[in-house]
Amino acid sequence: KSKIVTKSCSDDLAMRIASRLLFLLTEEIPGVSHIFVVENHHSDVLCDNGVIVQIAENIPIRDGWEVVDAQGMFVMPGGIDPHVHLDMPFMGTHSIDDFESGTRCAIAGGTTHVIDFMIPPRTGSLLETYRQWAEKSQGKAYCDYGFHACVTAWNDKVAKELAVLAREHGVTSCKHFLAYKGSLMLAAPEVIASFTLCKQLGILPMVHAEDGEMVAHQQRVIFESGIHGPEGHPLSRPPPMEALAVRMSTSFAELVNCPIYIVHNSCREAALEIRIAQERGVRVIGEVIVAHLMRDRSACSDPDWDLAAAHVLSPPLRAPEDMQALWAALQAGTLTVTGSDHCAFTRAQKRAGKEDFRLIPNGMLGIEERMLAIWERGVNSGRISREEFVNMTSTAAARVFNLYPRKGAVAVGSDADLVVWDPALERVISARTHQSRAEINPLEGTRCLGAPSVTIVGGRLAYHHLRGVLARPDWGRYVPRPAFGSAFSLVPRRDTVIQEERARMAALRA
Ligand code: URP
Ligand code: ZN
Ligand code: ZN
Ligand code: ZN
Repeated sequence: KSKIVTKSCSDDLAMRIASRLLFLLTEEIPGVSHIFVVENHHSDVLCDNGVIVQIAENIPIRDGWEVVDAQGMFVMPGGIDPHVHLDMPFMGTHSIDDFESGTRCAIAGGTTHVIDFMIPPRTGSLLETYRQWAEKSQGKAYCDYGFHACVTAWNDKVAKELAVLAREHGVTSCKHFLAYKGSLMLAAPEVIASFTLCKQLGILPMVHAEDGEMVAHQQRVIFESGIHGPEGHPLSRPPPMEALAVRMSTSFAELVNCPIYIVHNSCREAALEIRIAQERGVRVIGEVIVAHLMRDRSACSDPDWDLAAAHVLSPPLRAPEDMQALWAALQAGTLTVTGSDHCAFTRAQKRAGKEDFRLIPNGMLGIEERMLAIWERGVNSGRISREEFVNMTSTAAARVFNLYPRKGAVAVGSDADLVVWDPALERVISARTHQSRAEINPLEGTRCLGAPSVTIVGGRLAYHHLRGVLARPDWGRYVPRPAFGSAFSLVPRRDTVIQEERARMAALRA
């Protein structure tokens, strides 16, 4: 029932320049707005019923439509954050932002879709975990969302349930932890077995790449050396542990001939390993999260224990050179997707590790800050173009996770999930104004020039920079995703080539 019209400035469907936004509130459906975006030149985009239905020049504005001036702004597809942990049971507690506050963060930061990790206990059922996640999200999300599965043990039941998740519930990506020994970590044969099944089912395998055995060893070494504070966290998991795990998991993917998605790459060595695998022909999709782009490990040595602990996440914050290397890898296209890994905890929760850094719940926030920070440090600094910004905050994730072109595009047939980005709007990140329930914002005081003026969810005005959050927590819908996304396109052909190569080798011998 709602309408959006935008006039665009370029043929690129990913980004449009608007001059006015017009809204019409319908009488029939309270809270549902007709939205009309007009722009300087070229075509308009008309949306109806939460979907973009027409892109044409000069679509006439009807009476009664409310006008919002968007002169000089960019209308982009809403951000997609493919890496969040909302209300997640972890390290003896639950992450403090749930679907309600977490998706509130999302729309206030221009993000209109999040994908959350369902993490079953080692002995738990994936389907039971899916039911729990469905319950915690139902009616509590301000924007659309989906789930990734996580394999935390390997057996027949897990294999059967993965198939049901993919076929019946549209859960078509699945994370494997090479870290967190004693809780979430898998052994190499389990990872290979799971990748093999993922390939058959068209599920995109994902990996948290840190070598859990080495981490456990080094944590003991650092703790026993007398370092017990948050600064011990980065010291106990240096870059080679991550690089090794990236090398391992990309090698597994090569072995199985399946695509692979590596989450939260944090250092130069990890990016290099991804590059090496890509050059060997492995379909590796590399993600980087806002924490590693914005903060270095010195934050973990802050004299304020609570502030230092707020910067404890895994993989840990790295050296300033690593931050530069991650930006360079984004520029070069080695890493293509950005997430937040939003996993917030309160001061009190973090204090569980007051005497021992190994017990500090791992995680940093970032859903609301992701697009602001990447625009500020990426676009404003001249590192990445606006079009690349759209790709790395929305379109790339939509393609990788098989949401495109329903999400991640301003195109006919796409969902009317949009952000009107004002490059002249300044926002200073602060715990005083953020939507998260965490008391500390590790990016406190960061000045961002360029921010969402308006966020539109399903054709409705969800957030306005002056009026705040206008959406209701039942606007978000669960979005199932079909199996065999674009990352699988080369798999069958390559399987054939591999078979032929083997046959040739065998024939030589005969
Ligand atoms: O420290 C982090 N990243 N916490 C969330 C869980 C994970 O490893 O992604
Ligand atoms: Zn133009
Ligand atoms: Zn992780
Ligand atoms: Zn994570």
